[in-house]
Amino acid sequence: MDVPIYHAYLCDPEVTVWLEDRLQYPIGIQEIEKFVLGAAWARWAIEFEGRFIGMTGLEDFDPNRSLARFFIVIGDTSCWGKGLGQAVINEVVSRGFRDRGLRKIVSNYLHTNIASQKIHDRANFVSEGRLRSDVWRGGDWVDTLLVSRFREE
Ligand SMILES: CC(C)(COP(=O)(O)OP(=O)(O)OC[C@H]1O[C@@H](n2cnc3c(N)ncnc32)[C@H](O)[C@@H]1OP(=O)(O)O)[C@@H](O)C(=O)NCCC(=O)NCCS
Repeated sequence: MDVPIYHAYLCDPEVTVWLEDRLQYPIGIQEIEKFVLGAAWARWAIEFEGRFIGMTGLEDFDPNRSLARFFIVIGDTSCWGKGLGQAVINEVVSRGFRDRGLRKIVSNYLHTNIASQKIHDRANFVSEGRLRSDVWRGGDWVDTLLVSRFREE
């Protein structure tokens, strides 16, 4: 049931403009199905008031470095700006360090993504660098900001 909804979210340019390059093009429902229903190390549906509104998790788990990459997509844009993104990142970071024993969580976002910047800052992520003019969005080159957080931070 979540698959067609998530597919619709990832066909909404208002959402995908903030995501990776491959999502700037139409994506097949089979690929979404594999992602939503497939096995994952740490991936969760985000629900609000009984509705499925997006996905979050920790990807690219590297056991040798005890590291994973945070991601979040709230696809229902009517839910933006209500504090949900903040609540989700806090919870996922806590699960990553407390339940999964991670040493470090990395993340990245476009420098124009103020909402993403705010939730990462408030979750104590620290800058690791900037990929200059990294992706083409809305008629301009945009930087990607790299951030991370250690367990003890
Ligand atoms: C980024 C995202 C997770 C944020 O979730 P959210 O629930 O909207 O975030 P919150 O409500 O917890 O907090 C967002 C903050 O940014 C602010 N904000 C939101 N949109 C903004 C904008 N366009 N310009 C400036 N500030 C903005 C909010 O007002 C809030 O700040 P405040 O608490 O000081 O008022 C969500 O917008 C999303 O999933 N976007 C699409 C995908 C994406 O960008 N993923 C992250 C890529 S790494």
